[in-house]
Amino acid sequence: MQILQSPAEVQKITREWGAPVALVPTMGALHAGHLSLVEIARSVAKRVVVSIFVNPLQFAQGEDLAKYPRTFDADVSLLREKGVDLLFAPEATEFYPRGFSTKVHVSGLTDSLCGASRAGHFEGVTTVCLKLFQVTSAQFAVFGEKDFQQLRVIEQMVEDLNLPLDIVRGPIVREADGLAMSSRNRYLSPVERRLASRIPEAIKAVHSFGPDAVVRDVIEGARRLLGDISVDYLHVCSEFTLRPEGPEVLLSKILSPHFFLAVKIGQTRLIDNTPLHGVTT
Ligand code: PAJ
Repeated sequence: MQILQSPAEVQKITREWGAPVALVPTMGALHAGHLSLVEIARSVAKRVVVSIFVNPLQFAQGEDLAKYPRTFDADVSLLREKGVDLLFAPEATEFYPRGFSTKVHVSGLTDSLCGASRAGHFEGVTTVCLKLFQVTSAQFAVFGEKDFQQLRVIEQMVEDLNLPLDIVRGPIVREADGLAMSSRNRYLSPVERRLASRIPEAIKAVHSFGPDAVVRDVIEGARRLLGDISVDYLHVCSEFTLRPEGPEVLLSKILSPHFFLAVKIGQTRLIDNTPLHGVTT
């Protein structure tokens, strides 16, 4: 596995390969969720590139940029074991040189859910992903459903800008108790980790509501199971609009209804989501 920092070098090498490239963008601190995306990448393209870059552009003031977990050596070993061809790990000063002044904004899909409470976050994500797509000449890029809004925003950008690549979705990988794997789970103390297992209980419970349930049933069902955990949001949205539906709306009236949750346990913000049974396409 080659490990490169220079965008120009990566661009040169991936173009010279002349074979389809699948990219898995990450911020490192890799776990089985990330590695499942690498396996998907391997199944769709001859060459697999993984990027590790803790992207300053997507962290707002006061978020966890400085203390975001960095486990580079362990990450490299895991990627070597998976047979990754190239690891792109740029330095922020080289990836965003002085004078960098472009941002990509996807409107609509970024207004709700995490976009409502994390100003500028998705602009940071779309901007870095477009750069990563360009630098790696990727024909495929694999994104996890764990960050469902991010995935939808990237899909929209690719469609709107006619980018010459396919976005591939990877299912959520969960711990034994059902908690979605996340680099941020490392922040949890043992007591907080026990509390966090209420999240998959809520996810499992709402998943079982049928098309005759209304949005309020789903939200109240989740809230009951979360107990005293501090909730940022609980919403049901169509996966196409990501606009929260009102409490009286029947799931059967929503096109591909999806439940979204964001909570805070101690200082750690955790998100999860699941499809619901309504009108599917
Ligand atoms: P990061 O949080 O490192 O996640 C990288 C990719 O792994 C994302 O596509 C995310 O959805 C996926 N992922 C994380 N946990 C997962 C799980 N439990 N199961 C399946 N997939 C999972 O998301 C980012 O980095 C950044 O925003 C990035 C896209 C790299 C842009 O900076």
